[in-house]
Amino acid sequence: MLVKTVAVSLVAVSLVSVSLVLGLAGCSSDGGLPGADATTADGAVGDTSLGDAAPPPGSTPTYHEHVKAIVARNCLTCHVTGGIGPFALDSYQALSSRAPIVAAAVADQRMPPWPPSADGDRCEKLQHARKLSAAERDIIARWVAGGTPEGDPSKGDGTPPARAELARVDLELDAGFDYTPPSSGNYDDYRCFLLDPNLAADEHVTGVGIVPGQREMVHHALLYVVDRQQARQQAQASPGGWSCYGGPGVGGAQNLMAGWAPGTPPTRYPAGTGVSLRKDQAIVMQVHYNYDLGVRQPDRTRAKLMFADQSVSDMTMAFIVDVTFELQPGQSKTVERKFSRPGKLWGVFPHMHKLGTQISVELEQSDGSRRCLVDLPAWDFDWQQAYLFDRQDGIDLSDSQIVLRCTFHNTTSSVVRWGDGTNDEMCLAAIYRTTN
Ligand code: HEC
Repeated sequence: MLVKTVAVSLVAVSLVSVSLVLGLAGCSSDGGLPGADATTADGAVGDTSLGDAAPPPGSTPTYHEHVKAIVARNCLTCHVTGGIGPFALDSYQALSSRAPIVAAAVADQRMPPWPPSADGDRCEKLQHARKLSAAERDIIARWVAGGTPEGDPSKGDGTPPARAELARVDLELDAGFDYTPPSSGNYDDYRCFLLDPNLAADEHVTGVGIVPGQREMVHHALLYVVDRQQARQQAQASPGGWSCYGGPGVGGAQNLMAGWAPGTPPTRYPAGTGVSLRKDQAIVMQVHYNYDLGVRQPDRTRAKLMFADQSVSDMTMAFIVDVTFELQPGQSKTVERKFSRPGKLWGVFPHMHKLGTQISVELEQSDGSRRCLVDLPAWDFDWQQAYLFDRQDGIDLSDSQIVLRCTFHNTTSSVVRWGDGTNDEMCLAAIYRTTN
């Protein structure tokens, strides 16, 4: 029965739960902080050369000369007033008063949060990795151990990274009206809106920026490419937007183009690739509103698109899934499945629900050897995102198979199987792939 559902409408079923969970922990409190979308977007984290800024071995680093810049680059995208971090770390006072927990979080590599394994060097290098180098961790440890000296305020650069933007905006879209939330109840509100690009010619989208309207209630947003006629009919029938718990709520073929959650930079597809948007297609934007913070204001969330100015390869997001697992009460279990897909692989979006404990995607070569693409050793439902590989070219999939492996621990007293409900589980990865 479950298998049948998936066979009939794999994409729709799979998207349901991806659309549920894109948000980050505490994401509804991203208050438009400077650089919020620049989460290490420049890729500087972890490969920063400390150069002259490095304190001599054996000396005690100071805040202004050594620590401030590391914190600015790696922490302030979230840890500023109104950011998604629980407190600001943007001054000497703020940081030194929390020195013990900062030292511990940095030493354990819990902060900055980056779910792929700490020994990520084993796996494919990923874009926008949030990581401190060993040298940076060492400086913070020595500064705290040495009593957090302040140093000379005229030294060091505490400027957080600039907010990442698209190089160019060719089309900006919104629903054409403000969405007014219900005045009470319904704390999780999934609403879909037609963003009609009304294109004169077929295009390829190479970059997407989503700009939330009311940041205190926009939990996340997803853009789907759908059939324009069907989407227009749906929009005409529901002038205020339509409820769409699982996907765009419009029939026909669909592709998931991009998503936004607080802290994520604009999506830029790898050079030479783009998501197809034909003139007979339109975009449906699904917004997950959450009203826990008590804000229920009219919202107009917008999408900015950048189009290819030369021919590019089609980027699609397809799903690989294992729908056959069955988890007995109390059982810990690992399931693994292999997929043959032609083309080139550019990234993956791994996904499970709350009983998942680990998920990985590997590549098995024809000689049986394996290489790790992405491994999330401590699966956390609240920190999900797409991981794009940090490389110029996609990974050639010929003569190899993609291996999806999921580990679960069923802490409930029921048998759990595949499904899109919160009490069901999933073992899924969306794969970013080009075939031409
Ligand atoms: C992408 C956003 C983000 C970045 C970047 C980030 N943090 Fe956090 N931080 C959070 C969130 C969200 C929490 C609260 C939830 C949690 O613990 O996961 C948190 C919690 C913390 C805590 C308290 C909880 C704990 O684990 O001890 C400390 C200390 C902390 N961060 C320090 C830092 C430092 C230092 C940096 C930079 C080296 C940093 N964070 C970078 C988002 C971030």
